[in-house]
Amino acid sequence: MMIKVDVQQIKQRFGIIGNSPGLNRAIDVALQVAPTDLSVLITGESGVGKETFPQIIHQNSPRKHGQYIAVNCGAIPEGTIDSELFGHEKGSFTGALADRKGYFEVADGGTIFLDEVGELPTPTQARLLRVLETGEFIKVGSSKVLKTNVRIVAATNVNLVQAVADGKFREDLYYRLNTVPIQIPPLRERPEDIILLFRKFAGDCAEKYRMPPIRLDEEARQLLTSYRWPGNVRELKNITERISVIEENRDITASVLRLYLPDLNVEKYPVLVKKQESDQKFFNSEREILYQVLFDMKNDVNELKKLVHDIMGGKMPMPVADETTYAHPIHPVHSAPIQEAEAVEEEETLSLEDVEKDMIRKALEKHNGRRKNAAADLKISERTLYRKIKEYNLE
Ligand SMILES: Nc1ncnc2c1ncn2[C@@H]1O[C@H](COP(=O)(O)OP(=O)(O)OP(=O)(O)O)[C@@H](O)[C@H]1O
Ligand SMILES: [Mg+2]
Repeated sequence: MMIKVDVQQIKQRFGIIGNSPGLNRAIDVALQVAPTDLSVLITGESGVGKETFPQIIHQNSPRKHGQYIAVNCGAIPEGTIDSELFGHEKGSFTGALADRKGYFEVADGGTIFLDEVGELPTPTQARLLRVLETGEFIKVGSSKVLKTNVRIVAATNVNLVQAVADGKFREDLYYRLNTVPIQIPPLRERPEDIILLFRKFAGDCAEKYRMPPIRLDEEARQLLTSYRWPGNVRELKNITERISVIEENRDITASVLRLYLPDLNVEKYPVLVKKQESDQKFFNSEREILYQVLFDMKNDVNELKKLVHDIMGGKMPMPVADETTYAHPIHPVHSAPIQEAEAVEEEETLSLEDVEKDMIRKALEKHNGRRKNAAADLKISERTLYRKIKEYNLE
């Protein structure tokens, strides 16, 4: 027997912050539908918090003692996705040295979360439709029909209706997945959650780095609440962390906050702006990688300085790079010493693409080619990493 849980308990258990009607409604629908076997489609812009919903559903279903497998459909190469999902038989393709069970076999009696489901290639869509309708599937290279009992929760941040209209996503599969839709509203449509989330992230950060939490004055609070948040909760989290680490003064005014809200500074960064217009999601991930590159560069510069200093036998005074100058170079720095500003100018002549390629290569080497870990290290999504590997031909 399942014990009835309510929305507030779920929030506590899964660390969900916010109390807006839109968020509460989404959690409530997830709880209502959890005990059934219905397929659920979670939609919402990038960064709204879709990831925990399939877990809420699985944990509150009779399948909770079964397997829960999350699959990022956008991160698996097209050539291997069928084998990952449905398994393969030994010798079915070069490199298939042994039989392999797919997720649908492993998760029999459990739940599979298909993240970025809009990225599934067409042949895989057909296989998926079949297993959803009949519970039947066939391993790659086999002719034997196997049976499984899996509950599907899918998520997407792209408009699947549009993908159907464009002929990229099967209409029948869309209806089959979308039996129960759960929409997570963008952050700008639930402004009452913004300050709650800010406090939570500022508090977490303070604890992590053992310093007092940053606080906003009234004007800053208003600015934070009226900002558009194109990257939603993920963006709010990143910005809160960045301010927490960089700003020495823990009382944050609107004018300080403004330096961290990219949209208000757009005219200064024409290249990035173009990207933003064409594709907000890519813009977000590119900015993530850019920050990472600059953080690392700052460390390299500091190490170099130390090395030079050591070589000189400590005969010269050692200039230490000012945190704010390098760590936050995209925005104007209030009190940067002159020599540091010059250093930043020099770095701007480097090709960002080369630096990025280099960082990706290094991260992949460090993690022996394990993309998941490399992506985590680079602080970008696996999907972005996969796209970049392809783009730069780094395979
Ligand atoms: N209500 C919330 N309370 C606390 N943290 C949240 C909340 N919503 C989102 N987050 C955090 O924001 C980040 C982004 O959320 P998540 O990964 O679920 O986004 P998503 O909707 O899956 O985005 P994408 O479509 O890009 O994959 C995560 O670190 C998550 O923990
Ligand atoms: Mg996600």
